[in-house]
Amino acid sequence: MSVTVWVPGDAGALALGAEATAQALLAQSRAAGKEVRLRRNGSRGLYWLEPLVEVETPAGRVAYGPVAARDVPDLLAKGLLEGAAHALRLGDIEKHPWLATQQRLTFARVGRIDPLDLAAYRASGGYAGLARALALGPEAAVKEVLDSGLRGRGGAAFPTGIKWQTVLKQAPGQKYVTCNADEGDSGTYSDRMLMEGDPFSLIEGMTIAGVAVGATKGYVYLRVEYPHAFRVLNAAIAKAREAGLLGADVLGSGQAFDMEVRLGAGAYICGEETSMLESLEGRRGEIRVRPPLPAEKGLFGAPTIVNNVITLATVPGILAGGAAAYQAYGQAKSRGTLPLQLAGNIRRGGLVERAFGLTVRELLEDYGGGSLSGRPIRAVQIGGPLGAYLPASQFDTPLEYEALAAIGALLGHGGVVAFDDTVDMLEMARYAMEFCAHESCGKCTPCRIGSVRGAEALAAIGRGEDRDRQLVLVEELCDTMLNASLCGLGGMTPFPVQSALKHFPEDFRAKARGG
Ligand SMILES: Cc1cc2nc3c(=O)[nH]c(=O)nc-3n(C[C@H](O)[C@H](O)[C@H](O)COP(=O)(O)O)c2cc1C
Ligand code: SF4
Repeated sequence: MSVTVWVPGDAGALALGAEATAQALLAQSRAAGKEVRLRRNGSRGLYWLEPLVEVETPAGRVAYGPVAARDVPDLLAKGLLEGAAHALRLGDIEKHPWLATQQRLTFARVGRIDPLDLAAYRASGGYAGLARALALGPEAAVKEVLDSGLRGRGGAAFPTGIKWQTVLKQAPGQKYVTCNADEGDSGTYSDRMLMEGDPFSLIEGMTIAGVAVGATKGYVYLRVEYPHAFRVLNAAIAKAREAGLLGADVLGSGQAFDMEVRLGAGAYICGEETSMLESLEGRRGEIRVRPPLPAEKGLFGAPTIVNNVITLATVPGILAGGAAAYQAYGQAKSRGTLPLQLAGNIRRGGLVERAFGLTVRELLEDYGGGSLSGRPIRAVQIGGPLGAYLPASQFDTPLEYEALAAIGALLGHGGVVAFDDTVDMLEMARYAMEFCAHESCGKCTPCRIGSVRGAEALAAIGRGEDRDRQLVLVEELCDTMLNASLCGLGGMTPFPVQSALKHFPEDFRAKARGG
């Protein structure tokens, strides 16, 4: 009798050696006369325990981790295939406090099932949301999304239901659903994990969006750096099409919806929605002036939904379970859950899906376990490269949209990057300007020129040159970029710079003294 062993095929786990572990398990168990059925799942998101191997036993799945290929002989000898004791044995991973205390709605299936097993997806509630959306009809389905309180998880946190209503209201004709899978923010990987670990939830979410607003065609705009997600998504789309879940007659409803994946070439600005549409149309990724909004005049001039991967993948659960059930999670105007991604100098990095309201400190300490270096965490950057730096005195801030806005910060796509007390905040501020200069689309002057001058001025401060004058220049450049840039890249680059100046002024003074 063969024993089923799960080893993640997730790119993060593969980067940590999961393929070598899987092959070692197969070869060495066969050599020992034991038959192993190797199955691939998404990562559970406990990256410090990857490669995380799970063995199916009569008592349930038993996890071991992190399992390097060199650990396999000892593990097999000590009874891994029977779920026996070992220093790397973790038991039922779902009972691990790191996972048991999470509230996984969007990531409910990730790690549990084979991402391309459509039967398993359906057996675990998949496609119940689409069936309900079809039964409700367009207006009621859109209202359900509105009532859930779901806000876009790509960064701008705009209410998803309102965006969908705008597209629904446009005159009948060609409309599109586009999924923003550019995931350019530093320290973020939830889109990738979701697409690799549960692609059908994104496909179902896009299909619901299509039938709800009358769009027949969908595109996933995927960054080229995600080849694993590209393969998984394409395979899942083919399976959905074969099963009549995409195509001319979705779920026997008589409604058409189909989709495909397009690869971006890897520019941060192509994640901004109007640049993304330009790029999807085959042009250079450059900002479009708004209005008109993409919901009115988007892809190829047609009304278009632009939503992030997590936003769309959350929709099936909302439709299946009802708006009220989703709305019950979270606080104030931040409803539901957010998959936070812990990265940087942190002991236990990974994906934490929790209702809005967890504090930064709880995330860093209870989940993250403090810094990897063991030194005090001095700063965290939340929301990607344009997010503000928070000092330790702000670590009790709840992770929700309005609470962060109140301290001049943002939640963005939920990336949280930790730095210990060796971080040089002047260098981080300079880097923010340099990043903007590198990624600027060049369409407007405050961003195109301001970021170059900003990086130069901060470098001059680092060399101790003319500190006071350079600091005034940096403040003025920030003010101009903040107020006069055409889009968020130039408009938000001042956030990391100003927060570094405000909370860590000593780093700027020390350099001026030549320190
Ligand atoms: C410079 C810049 C980069 C962005 N990058 C991304 C990205 O990589 N992924 C994403 O979903 N949204 C990104 N956004 C936000 C999008 O413009 C847009 O708000 C989002 O895709 C809408 O989807 P949502 O409402 O589901 O969040 C970016 C915005 C800016 C200004
Ligand atoms: S702010 Fe920068 S990226 Fe945005 S439109 Fe202006 S030049 Fe382009």
